[in-house]
Amino acid sequence: MEKKCKIAVVILAAGQGTRMRVDYPKPLAPLLGKKIIDYVLETAEGFLEKNSLKGELFLILGHQRQEVTHYLCQRKTGMPYREIVQEKQQGTAHAIRCFFEQVKNASDFDYVLILCGDTPLIEESHLSLLFAEIKNGTLDANLASFIEANPQGYGRICREANTFTIVEEKDATPSQKSICEVNSGLYCFKAEFLKKNIFEIKNENISKEFYLTDCFSKKAKTKAIVFPDAEAFLGINDLVQLEHAGKILQKRINQNWARKGVRFLDISSCIIESTVEIARGSTLYPNLILEGATVIGQNCTIGAGVVIQNSHIEKNATIKAYSMIEESHVGSECDIGPFARLRPGTIIAGQAKVGNFVELKKAKLERGVKISHLSYVGDASVGENTNIGCGFITCNYDGSSKHTTNIGRDCFIGSDTQTIAPVAIGDNCYIASGSTINQSMPDGSFAISRGRQVTKENMAHKFIKKKVVKK
Ligand code: UD1
Ligand code: CA
Repeated sequence: MEKKCKIAVVILAAGQGTRMRVDYPKPLAPLLGKKIIDYVLETAEGFLEKNSLKGELFLILGHQRQEVTHYLCQRKTGMPYREIVQEKQQGTAHAIRCFFEQVKNASDFDYVLILCGDTPLIEESHLSLLFAEIKNGTLDANLASFIEANPQGYGRICREANTFTIVEEKDATPSQKSICEVNSGLYCFKAEFLKKNIFEIKNENISKEFYLTDCFSKKAKTKAIVFPDAEAFLGINDLVQLEHAGKILQKRINQNWARKGVRFLDISSCIIESTVEIARGSTLYPNLILEGATVIGQNCTIGAGVVIQNSHIEKNATIKAYSMIEESHVGSECDIGPFARLRPGTIIAGQAKVGNFVELKKAKLERGVKISHLSYVGDASVGENTNIGCGFITCNYDGSSKHTTNIGRDCFIGSDTQTIAPVAIGDNCYIASGSTINQSMPDGSFAISRGRQVTKENMAHKFIKKKVVKK
């Protein structure tokens, strides 16, 4: 039986990320619902699982490492990893030295696969291909390169006969700078070769850093494999590249949903985070934003400009244009919007209708409730099939505390009604339009509370002031 080889996967994420010009550490840069480090970790984990390797995961942290560790502690999925500390960031080779210095059993590994914490679009298949080449051949090391029309910032692959070296942007001559084949920062090494060479690297370059790329000298048996899908190797050094990575990832995500039966009217205009789930048969109109742990059921229609965060929309629901839904649950066959606002804690059962300019907050609507226009319902429950007219307000706040409003089933609440909480309306109640209700109502009761109308004939002229038009 073939001896199972041992592999260390090392992610470099200790750098200062100076070019980002943000306060948070670069590994925690947000990218479509996750942080960039999440994508790199998932790729590494996918690689180890796919190849059923005896592998271990290492993460090199330094700059603002407490923040990165704190974030990763909250991760619920994924493999365990070991943290290596690079206190002073003296370059990528120095980071790998820290790995060999801090991991006592480093000599047990046969191979070391290295990837940068700032290349979140690299996929498991890229890692597997590099590893297969090393495992099945006689090479000491290989790397993934790609062709980049604007190679600025990347290390250039300078080929000469059958060998090559890597020259960093800062150290490159004008003619080297014009080379478009660049280093992706994804490498696979024979562990022995790496260990021997990493401590010999010098920092004789413009940045005075120890470059990992100097392992690829003319003496070694190495190979740069050109990958055709350059987009996947984008390195994020600044916010322009972060936005660019978002666009590339968005295309992947949206096309994935389209292939699974989600219909887009304008696929490139929709922002859908990688944490969102969408069932087949749904139709998505342009410019919508679906974020966080949002789930869209089968055959839903989500209108133009709709924003949904951390919410569950059940099957056959329609969310019309420009509605905003946060941390809410919308039942099947509901009809929401246009211009509806569902604030956190809203739970709507099936077949309810929430129309234009309706705001709901911590509101529980039972099946078949209708609130069609211009209303505010907060800290409230509304029973089955109750119909709420236009311009209804639950007055839930007395200036210091919030109070609840409970409305029973099969009620009719006339337009321009306010209920002053705390108040309870029973089942089958009727409230006349224009009422202000501050007392609870028993089941089946009728309430009216508004000034009596007074009509005086031929008196309007006293109040109608005509403008005098000068001739
Ligand atoms: C690096 C490569 C370059 C390649 C590019 C691909 C080197 C010398 N250069 O350049 O050839 O084209 O990536 O995107 O490796 N890091 C540490 N410790 C350090 C320094 C960096 O952990 O002391 C980490 C960073 O956090 C980052 C990664 O290593 O995740 C790469 O460092 P970065 O400074 O971004 O290197 P580049 O200039 O992009
Ligand atoms: Ca980089």
